[in-house]
Amino acid sequence: TGYVTLDSGYKNTGATKSAITFLDGEEGILRYRGYPIEQLAEQSSFIEVAYLLIYGKLPTQAELADFSGQITKHTLVHEDVRKIFDGFPSAAHPMAILSSLICALTAFYPESVSPDLSKEEINLNVIRLMAKLPTIAAWTYKNQMGHPLNYPRNDMDYCSNFLHMMFSFPTEKYELNPVVVSALNKLLILHADHEQNCSTSTVRLVGSANASLYGSVSAGINALWGPLHGGANQEVVEMLEAIERDGGDTSKFIAKAKDKNDSFRLMGFGHRVYKNFDPRATIIKKAADEVLTALGLQDSPLLKIAKELEQAALTDEYFIQRKLYPNVDFYSGIIYKALGIPTEMFTVMFALGRLPGWIAQWKEMRENKEPIGRPRQIYTGETARDYVSIEQRS
Ligand code: CMC
Repeated sequence: TGYVTLDSGYKNTGATKSAITFLDGEEGILRYRGYPIEQLAEQSSFIEVAYLLIYGKLPTQAELADFSGQITKHTLVHEDVRKIFDGFPSAAHPMAILSSLICALTAFYPESVSPDLSKEEINLNVIRLMAKLPTIAAWTYKNQMGHPLNYPRNDMDYCSNFLHMMFSFPTEKYELNPVVVSALNKLLILHADHEQNCSTSTVRLVGSANASLYGSVSAGINALWGPLHGGANQEVVEMLEAIERDGGDTSKFIAKAKDKNDSFRLMGFGHRVYKNFDPRATIIKKAADEVLTALGLQDSPLLKIAKELEQAALTDEYFIQRKLYPNVDFYSGIIYKALGIPTEMFTVMFALGRLPGWIAQWKEMRENKEPIGRPRQIYTGETARDYVSIEQRS
């Protein structure tokens, strides 16, 4: 095995070439197809960013109208999918249902598993997935609540329709308004791709065996469900709630985070790649202020605690020295909570946002005809030994 280099966790090994997302962790730069994340979050919509990631260019008006029109046409899921819902326990975690039902799409569209699909056939699967995942995602929540399922509304844009399927407007909490829709657009845009992270690498690896788009994305959803990957925004909100319950003294928790004998970490702080700042966090902090103000929640204790923690950490030598800054998850949970989305659904929201990235990366891998992924290993087991019959074993 002399020629195999070990790189646990692929910290320094490029597994693929990719023209989709550029990330510079030292400089805090994130670009989709060359466009800065700041410009996309401010000026674009999630559906336009999805087009950009999947097809490599910003759409013309006609292309965008065609793309969203096709998606709208496919938002309904087969009625038999509802029967599968009935088989799940009502307390099932939404991610368990989401990954299962996305994989189940291969049963409803069996032709999707063919390795020889034409460009048009692949595109139909792309459209179906973009269209049906929000419906299934919203229904996982309805299932858990024991509510009747809301069918998609063809007269609504992608984000408004998702919120409509989650809640029946007007709700007691808020009405569907442009500030809420814009906040959701931003959150989804910021999560849409992040180059070769764990779930995306999973999608590419599974897809490299010529597995179907639905099967590959379902595998990505399971990877995302891991608490080390997609679960941090939930942990941030739980931490803020714990601080609130404890009386709201942030300095106590900052001290705990710095204490090397205490395993507590400030959730939503630090990042493996971003070592100066996470460009997504800056955008999301502003969006949190806007949406909470619009919903009359500007005095929310959680927002206040979050801001105090951020301020304290950014001026503390411990965090400065270790280059620990708020990451994308620090404020996203606060926005989801303000929108009435329960914590168990946070990772589903992440999946909704990451979907165009997974699709774009799967498609790029297919179009580049990449070979099947097959990592090597450094063997550490026994050397050769002879079989011993069971009577003679001690
Ligand atoms: N609170 C307190 N100390 C911390 C924290 C934190 N959140 N994060 C890192 N440190 C300390 C750590 O104890 C270590 O200190 P020392 O050098 O004295 O031993 C030093 O900073 C370096 O930490 P590390 O664990 O070696 O850094 P890493 O790059 O391997 O870990 C991380 C990155 C994100 C796992 C880590 O910062 C962390 O656990 N953060 C909290 C969880 C979190 O917010 N995760 C979401 C990540 S963003 C989601 C995404 O984009 O997918």
